[in-house]
Amino acid sequence: MNTMIWDEALIRKYNTKGPRYTSYPTALLLRTDYAAENALQALAHSGDELSLYVHLPFCRQLCYYCGCNKVISQDQTKADRYLQALATEMQFYQKVTTNKHVSQLHLGGGTPTFLDHPQLQLLMQQLRQYFHFTADAVLSIEIDPRSCDIDKLRLLRELGFSRVSFGVQDFDEKVQLAIHRQQSFVLVESLVVASRQLGFSSVNLDLVYGLPWQQPDSFADTLQQVITLDPDRVSLFSYAHLPERFAAQRKIPNEALPDAKQKLALLALAVDRLGQAGFQAIGMDHFAKAHDSLAIAQREGRLQRNFQGYTTDNCASMLGLGVSAISQVGDQIWQHQKDLNLYYRQQTDIGHSIDKGMSLSLDDQIRADVIAELMCNFQLNTESFARKWQINFQQYFANSLAQLASCQQDGLIVVTSQQLTVTARGRPWVRILAACFDAYLLPQSQQYSQVV
Ligand SMILES: C[S@@+](CC[C@H](N)C(=O)[O-])C[C@H]1O[C@@H](n2cnc3c(N)ncnc32)[C@H](O)[C@@H]1O
Ligand code: SF4
Repeated sequence: MNTMIWDEALIRKYNTKGPRYTSYPTALLLRTDYAAENALQALAHSGDELSLYVHLPFCRQLCYYCGCNKVISQDQTKADRYLQALATEMQFYQKVTTNKHVSQLHLGGGTPTFLDHPQLQLLMQQLRQYFHFTADAVLSIEIDPRSCDIDKLRLLRELGFSRVSFGVQDFDEKVQLAIHRQQSFVLVESLVVASRQLGFSSVNLDLVYGLPWQQPDSFADTLQQVITLDPDRVSLFSYAHLPERFAAQRKIPNEALPDAKQKLALLALAVDRLGQAGFQAIGMDHFAKAHDSLAIAQREGRLQRNFQGYTTDNCASMLGLGVSAISQVGDQIWQHQKDLNLYYRQQTDIGHSIDKGMSLSLDDQIRADVIAELMCNFQLNTESFARKWQINFQQYFANSLAQLASCQQDGLIVVTSQQLTVTARGRPWVRILAACFDAYLLPQSQQYSQVV
């Protein structure tokens, strides 16, 4: 996507709401009549390797645009109670994970660096007590720069973290005021420089396009500042505006939001500037320097997608811990209670907090594989895919291919008897193309975000 081709007719036709496909089926389809036993069975029968995600929900201040599962609090002791619950959860899963080795750990949120030094030490002590980490396990963490300093970075390095991701969003003051998130360039710069000095091997910066008052000129300045910081990766998320679901987003005035055309112009600007600065576009919304493992994985066709987005993590079993965390192991997807009080209550009542889940049918797994290929590699060899799954691709996906016909006419995808190839023009619309293979798609559900 280092060049982006788009026009207004495409925006009018394709800018609908749709899933981001961090999983297929999407988490919206998980069912509350799910038996936790299925999750334990799947873990018991899964391979030796395990990838862990831990959700730390606390943040000190509410960012109005935020779509994450978070709890705003100034009370540091809330994290003590939460760490106890996490330990209970680790114990619950331990009976089926004792023989496994953790090769990846990601702390996400909320804000993992809400935890103070003793709390971070305790969390890692608990994790290492209940799980066996491989010697070369990769530990990564999301950081709100306002909740971190150089001492905390040093501690994270000592605890084994090698990858950091800082939330930037936008450096422009007017944008920062409108999203209720003020943080200076100097703060972010000091942390990025310290990360390098402390030996973190990868630094990611999160940006969001489509935020209130974002203009090409000021966003170009933000991009230039980001380029100056020389991160290994940049995540550039499309602002998901779902005011029906996230009350704080209602504080953002509609007239401040760029429309779809302006939003695509911001995306095009970012693609152009980051491309010129030597970043390779990865999938829909990531950029990485050529030496970075994400860029290498994309070049080698090994890019993956999981609940956190694009990743190099090819571990088949992902166990999520904490409130709202989602796991995928074998043919099972499950999610913990999303509400913190319910999470605690259910754990006290029945010993675990698994709330919803589903067992993937063979059809779900086949469709998930097509969608992942399109989202990660922008192409699919239908012949080898058909051999892998023992299907006749043209017959099996006759409906999907019929839906794709109009996208092909619009130049978004090239469909031949052996190959599906998303074109440069089609890349911003890959979610629409993937949706043609979705057997459950809810028409224009308010639960999904706008594609652009
Ligand atoms: C959990 S936060 C990162 C860590 C930390 N809490 C912070 O904000 O710096 C994950 C990222 O999701 C992105 N994000 C949050 N809400 C979003 C939304 N409504 N639309 C698009 N991206 C969003 C932001 O880029 C944010 O940095
Ligand atoms: S963007 Fe990050 S810091 Fe802001 S409320 Fe969301 S999770 Fe918390």
